[in-house]
Amino acid sequence: MSRLELFPDTTTIENDALTIGGCDLSALADEYGTPLYLYDRATLDASVTAYRRALNAHYGSPKYGYHYPAESGLTYAGKAFLCLAIAQWCRQQDLWLDCSGLGEIAIAAAAGVPKEQIVVHGVNKSEEDLNAALEHAGIIVVDNLTELGRLVDLSHARRLPDLWLRFQPGLAVETHAYTQTGQADSKFGIGRDEILEAARICRQHKLPLKGLHFHQGSQFRDPSPLGIAIEKTLDLAQALDLGEGWVLSPGGGWGVAYHEDELPQPDVAAYVRFVAEAVKAGCRERGLSLPRLQLEPGRSLVARAGVALYRLGALKRTAHRTWLLLDGGLADNPRHALYGARYSALPVRGPERPVEETIWMAGPYCESGDVLIERLPFPKVEAGELIAVPVSGAYQLSMSSNYNAARRPDVLWLDGGHAYQIQRRETPADLLRRDYELPANSVEKG
Ligand code: LLP
Repeated sequence: MSRLELFPDTTTIENDALTIGGCDLSALADEYGTPLYLYDRATLDASVTAYRRALNAHYGSPKYGYHYPAESGLTYAGKAFLCLAIAQWCRQQDLWLDCSGLGEIAIAAAAGVPKEQIVVHGVNKSEEDLNAALEHAGIIVVDNLTELGRLVDLSHARRLPDLWLRFQPGLAVETHAYTQTGQADSKFGIGRDEILEAARICRQHKLPLKGLHFHQGSQFRDPSPLGIAIEKTLDLAQALDLGEGWVLSPGGGWGVAYHEDELPQPDVAAYVRFVAEAVKAGCRERGLSLPRLQLEPGRSLVARAGVALYRLGALKRTAHRTWLLLDGGLADNPRHALYGARYSALPVRGPERPVEETIWMAGPYCESGDVLIERLPFPKVEAGELIAVPVSGAYQLSMSSNYNAARRPDVLWLDGGHAYQIQRRETPADLLRRDYELPANSVEKG
């Protein structure tokens, strides 16, 4: 059944029910409640291995007369999903960690990610973000000239981490408009002339300019726009003469299939090969030394390892639809509402039951946009059953909210037949933690 391919590598059907990571999902739901998020460690590890194998196979071929193997690495984009345990997993896997601002930097530092492996991104870094970056990070990716001016000021008092400049290549990848970033007029990065100016400022103030970065967008399957951006970036590198050991970071963004209609999963090796070949060929043409190639995937490392489990509370048949009403939705996964993302699902019990009707799945929140899934062929199910939504590991919990004072769910780490809690469900007390009472002198109306 192709829908099963969307689930983590360790997914099996035992006693007519889904298991993941050797764990019985019904037992987990009984113990922890729903909604419940699961991360399968084996699938996470396998996704890193796939990237590493491809980098080793395709980057730094002696065919081009360069030293072999060329240096390369992976930075996990923490915005896809970050918590203490995931940051610790990054450390175990020797992944660098892309942090957007103070909050993610704090999580990375708490997990003991080495300073030189913390990369700080951000389109409008606050003073607090920059101070946290100076304290804990090894690399700051400079988004614009104003930020560079601040860094020049800071450099008088402190040693700066390495700097990379964020280039706006002028074209994006093909994806939803909200997740395109590389196009001209985007708010991200700076164009060629400003990059040249930034490099001049760095030289003037002896700032440690070490690399160039671009990111054209997220959730794409056709890597060809990256070829053009790589050419433009290598032209810049040639003009800047960054010297041996410079770093090229072509961002992340490689897509995943969320729905069986989108299978097979986009091939990580094909993507890495495309990028590696383009960098090698472009460097050879320009007589440039090969950069360290630092890829920055988020979604393609964690999305497929994650599964969201919901309890079906009620069925509602309207004139033209069958609604399955779940106990989670918009608050833990706003992606359908934001991007029209198409998800799939299976019932935990009897996942191989024949499809009998087309259903819509929605959550409990006060908003008609609180829909998770539209028009999915599904077996007949009953209230009380568990529903598993695959490919839920990226940009769900990290974009979750407390809408309707929803409490963010438990997150479990599945490893070797055991489930470990890595985040607990919020409590009503958590929801009140930031609140203060009205001032004592506030007057009661009445
Ligand atoms: N590097 C930079 C500088 C980025 O801005 C991003 C994602 C990544 C790397 C990782 O991209 P990934 O490999 O995860 O696609 N909320 C949207 C996605 C926003 C992505 C933002 N930047 C969604 O749910 O689809």
